[in-house]
Amino acid sequence: MKKRVLVTYNMFRAGYAELIEKYDVTFPPEGRESFTYDEVMDMIEDYDVLQSMFNFKVDEALITKGKRLKLISNYAVGFDNIDVACATRLGIQVTNTPHSVTEPTADQAMGLIYAVTRRIAEMDRRIRIKGNVHVGLLENLGHSLYGKTLGIIGMGRIGCALARRAMAAGMKIVYTKRNRMSNEEEQKYNAIYMSKEELLQCADIVSVNAPYTPETFHIIGEAEFDLMKPSAILINTARGPLVDERALVTALKEGKIWGAGLDVFENGDYPSDELAMLDNAVLNPHLGTQTIETRNEMAFVVSQNIINFFEGGEVFKVNFI
Ligand code: GLV
Repeated sequence: MKKRVLVTYNMFRAGYAELIEKYDVTFPPEGRESFTYDEVMDMIEDYDVLQSMFNFKVDEALITKGKRLKLISNYAVGFDNIDVACATRLGIQVTNTPHSVTEPTADQAMGLIYAVTRRIAEMDRRIRIKGNVHVGLLENLGHSLYGKTLGIIGMGRIGCALARRAMAAGMKIVYTKRNRMSNEEEQKYNAIYMSKEELLQCADIVSVNAPYTPETFHIIGEAEFDLMKPSAILINTARGPLVDERALVTALKEGKIWGAGLDVFENGDYPSDELAMLDNAVLNPHLGTQTIETRNEMAFVVSQNIINFFEGGEVFKVNFI
């Protein structure tokens, strides 16, 4: 009997071609975007694999109901949506899609850096309304990037890909990371290692690129904004709860920092009303991996993780069982 795979979202099918050919794969019905949590709860007992998306909660109740479950193949590099400890306890493998997300997410971070420093989104909004923008030599000033310092908190794959882009823009790189990079790696990015506090004091742009774990919750909050330069900007393309959004609103309103570029928010998919009112924040709806190419590639990788798990080959594991 073919293994049964439950996919929670009606993703493009191209990347799933081999999986669909070899396995019994269930997608949400045509016209529906995704299965609800309750629907998945009702079906999970009949499946060997759950192919979840990064915005789909896979908690203890769901995992324990999946009596046949052997694998949770998550469509994302992040896996904070999954109770990995529970899966591990029950001998269920969890996998992710680490490489496909690197370049597009770094593009998005760099795009936000430009959008904030050169006020691209704000000016686009304003110029559409007659009389809402004055064109003069000392109007609408932003900040240059050349010669400025980018501070990367979490110098993993995405942090390094962002560093490459920033180097091309003439920026200097400083970083902080749980485990310091090798000399060779540091030289590659001309990157200087420092503590988070030192980084916050010297960086013109601070980008958070760390995974969301209990340790990284609110790694940027009031104390951190107090250390930053009034001309600094904050970029978050990682996960919303890494930044204390209330403290960020205060910092932006009081001029503790100059601006922010955010692809993710602390409380779900949308910014708070207060944040949405601020012109010095560029706000995007989690666009990091939102390209046609990346969506297809991630679908291919989640499928390969499943096929290789059963048939042998490379599997991107996030837990050890
Ligand atoms: C997207 O946010 C991901 O974790 O891949």
